[in-house]
Amino acid sequence: MKVILFIFCLWRAVVMGQLPPEIGKCKAGDSICVAEMFTRIMRLYPKGLASIGLGALDSISFENVIVSRIEPGDPATLDLRFHNLTVSGFADATVAESKGFDAELPRVLELSGWTPLLKLDGFYEMHGSLLTLPIQGKGHALVEIKECRFRCKMRALEKLRGDDKRYAEIAKVKCLLDVQGVHLNFENLFNNPELSDAMNEVANAKWLDIWHTLRKGITSAVDELVQSVLKRVADKLPYDDIYRD
Ligand SMILES: *[C@@H]1O[C@H](CO)[C@@H](O)[C@H](O)[C@H]1NC(C)=O
Repeated sequence: MKVILFIFCLWRAVVMGQLPPEIGKCKAGDSICVAEMFTRIMRLYPKGLASIGLGALDSISFENVIVSRIEPGDPATLDLRFHNLTVSGFADATVAESKGFDAELPRVLELSGWTPLLKLDGFYEMHGSLLTLPIQGKGHALVEIKECRFRCKMRALEKLRGDDKRYAEIAKVKCLLDVQGVHLNFENLFNNPELSDAMNEVANAKWLDIWHTLRKGITSAVDELVQSVLKRVADKLPYDDIYRD
């Protein structure tokens, strides 16, 4: 009997997501507790937690990320894309505030907080102009973003499933980012190491202008990232089951 019960519990935990006991559930509407719960999940499971559909957060890889594109009628003067890109630093985020995590799922949920250092590492290709200087290159790039503050709004839809539980479907995510510093190292600009170093130095001295140029593209990459992470969790973990009775 015990064995059967054990197998049943195991089956439930595998099929339908459940928060592990060390996470500690919150009362619905307790926004401080919910914010702390999100932070605790990231601290305890930087490599992810399959039972709730959470993928690894310490290092997330993408392919073909377009940060900026020159298009007719658009003021952008730069084509910049990453063939591949690995983002690290999300697992160190602290969620300081949550909104909307009530017993009844609202249309909009909100999470805000900060992360001390985001590192974007990958193979870039760019041409156009940056800080009114012509620029072009292709090679390895490292972008470090310091003290990134975020406020993300998530549009959610309620779905009732066959198991009689309510799930949240994350339909859209829109984040606002604010940073305290950006450090760039694009290798092989102009196919010339000395020019490349000089250009990186100019760019780093004017990091705030660089941030204004790249903010839109980086923010939409973050929107997508946050949406794909939350979507998978919300798909596995019933909305009702993040709260205690
Ligand atoms: C990224 O792409 C470059 C160029 O195609 C390649 O040399 C490098 O190994 C790739 N890195 C990863 C992590 O896939």
